[in-house]
Amino acid sequence: MNRDNVSYVEQVSQAASYIKRFTHEIPNTVLQLGTGLGNLADRIEAEHVIPYEDIPFFPQSTVASHQGKLIIGHLGSHRLIALSGRFHFYEGYSTREITLPVRVLQVLGVKTLIITNAAGGLNPLFQPGTIMVIRDHLNFLGENPLRGPNVDEWGPRFPDLSEPYKPKLIKTVLNCADACNIEKVVTGTYVCIPGPSLETPAETRWLRESGADAVGMSSVPEVIVALHGSMQVLGLSVVANVNDPDNFQPILLEDIIAEAAKASSRLEKLITEFIQRIEELQLP
Ligand code: HPA
Repeated sequence: MNRDNVSYVEQVSQAASYIKRFTHEIPNTVLQLGTGLGNLADRIEAEHVIPYEDIPFFPQSTVASHQGKLIIGHLGSHRLIALSGRFHFYEGYSTREITLPVRVLQVLGVKTLIITNAAGGLNPLFQPGTIMVIRDHLNFLGENPLRGPNVDEWGPRFPDLSEPYKPKLIKTVLNCADACNIEKVVTGTYVCIPGPSLETPAETRWLRESGADAVGMSSVPEVIVALHGSMQVLGLSVVANVNDPDNFQPILLEDIIAEAAKASSRLEKLITEFIQRIEELQLP
């Protein structure tokens, strides 16, 4: 579909209408699955699987490691929407395009975003397989999805980001990790860089000094849009590799995917447990 002649508001509205046709009751949670974490999608008892290419104005993934489908179904007892496959700035999309799915779901009434990604560890205490619950982020993309005219029905011109990741959700997910004996679950700050080239040793040193614990190429635009739309956000990074500026090792996509896949059963367990508790956590 040619998006050049259609306003962004209209694109969002058409995509939302299309999704609404599948169900009278839109779930109030969306789970976005990152690199190597697509297996979780297979755990969902699906009512509907909608390929992104069928949804008007949804971008198309250009990365082989990302599928592109929206799933409506149950994970355990909780009904949710999963976005399997995401879009990245490095693919050439603007942050507005990247965030269209989250905006559409906000318009449809979804209240909670659980976002996952694979990331590089900057904190020397991390190991491959560490699950980092995101407490805060740095947007180093040089672009903000809210730039341009504000749509007041969607959210305020200057949204407050003082508490980007809901403390109540962070506390709950940490409790879930304890209750299920899931090891290597920590909290930290995620920094989003444009990519697609990976970091140099000097960049890694600088990112560490900026206060970041993990680095990746996704998620922050979606989180900004979710917060603009008054959604509550839980962010989970799977640390696939740890980057030491003084002993830098090559970072290979195959390794990132393999490590993320290895950690995925722990992440799956964590998310499944968290999802069961989510009803208690909706915003008033
Ligand atoms: N850098 C950026 N993105 C990543 C990395 C990394 O080291 N690992 C996984 N995603």
